[in-house]
Amino acid sequence: MTIALATSAALPGLAPDDRLLLRALRVRGLVCQPAVWEDPHYDWSAASLCVIRSAWDYAYRRQEFLRWVQRAGAEVPMWNPPAVVVWNTHKQYLVDLAARGVPTVPTRVLGAGSRVDLGAVLDETGWGDVVLKAAVAQTGRYLLAVPAAGRADGQRHLDRLLPAEDMLLQPFMPGIRSEGESSLVYVDGAFSHAVRKRPAPDDFRVHDDFDGSIEPVAPTRAERDVAEAALATVDAALLYARVDLVPGPAGPVVMEFELVEPDLYLATDPQAATRLAEAVAARSG
Ligand SMILES: Nc1ncnc2c1ncn2[C@@H]1O[C@H](COP(=O)(O)OP(=O)(O)O)[C@@H](O)[C@H]1O
Ligand SMILES: [Mg+2]
Repeated sequence: MTIALATSAALPGLAPDDRLLLRALRVRGLVCQPAVWEDPHYDWSAASLCVIRSAWDYAYRRQEFLRWVQRAGAEVPMWNPPAVVVWNTHKQYLVDLAARGVPTVPTRVLGAGSRVDLGAVLDETGWGDVVLKAAVAQTGRYLLAVPAAGRADGQRHLDRLLPAEDMLLQPFMPGIRSEGESSLVYVDGAFSHAVRKRPAPDDFRVHDDFDGSIEPVAPTRAERDVAEAALATVDAALLYARVDLVPGPAGPVVMEFELVEPDLYLATDPQAATRLAEAVAARSG
């Protein structure tokens, strides 16, 4: 039986980092192949396992993606589990983490179809420089930095998007520019490796798509504690997890908790692909 590594139509051969997992699985003698989640003809029931990997397009079609998760997840064991994926595809989860006591970037969810007076919300929160972004997002989807003096631009952004998109409002975290963002990767619940991502000098987005840099890093104890507090809120076992942390006024805070299709930066640690392959192999029966 095949292990299906779910990917997107735009990446039929998987993203380069996920090909390291494919190779590590094949080195162990396991049969595995990329499988496009949008492919209506793929027989998921013929696979022994489905591992969601380079599905980097779901933010533009979340409902379709979740229908696939439910359908394929009923036919084959899926990791991470479907219920976790449903919860984690919408950044309302940041509010849930904060409610469970996990240090998190302060977040307001602005619901699609609502009418929001940005100035009134900012007066109420007392936030100065802020960020608006989509609640279902990858790679900075509908992300706009709104300086305290730029409320009119922010209001226009909301007026354009809010009719159809849930949006998030957060204070701008200035530590992004000086210290960057740390990503801690966990395999089977255990810490595996970490990277520090920094934005290009003229940007505040850390993604390599926008010329940000990535380097391996040893996380601090405080970063491990926050990441593990986020993990502890999830009732299900997790094959993989990535916790993105940024500096807050009193220590690291969660910017993203990625359990669906995170880039796991396998290339940055010589053992990472093997570790993940072993955890996948253990589930493939
Ligand atoms: N509140 C914020 N303050 C400062 N920078 C932010 C903030 N929110 C997002 N960013 C920048 O934009 C990037 C993308 O935002 P993020 O929340 O990670 O969404 P995604 O990666 O899913 O698009 C972050 O990595 C960071 O560089
Ligand atoms: Mg991110």
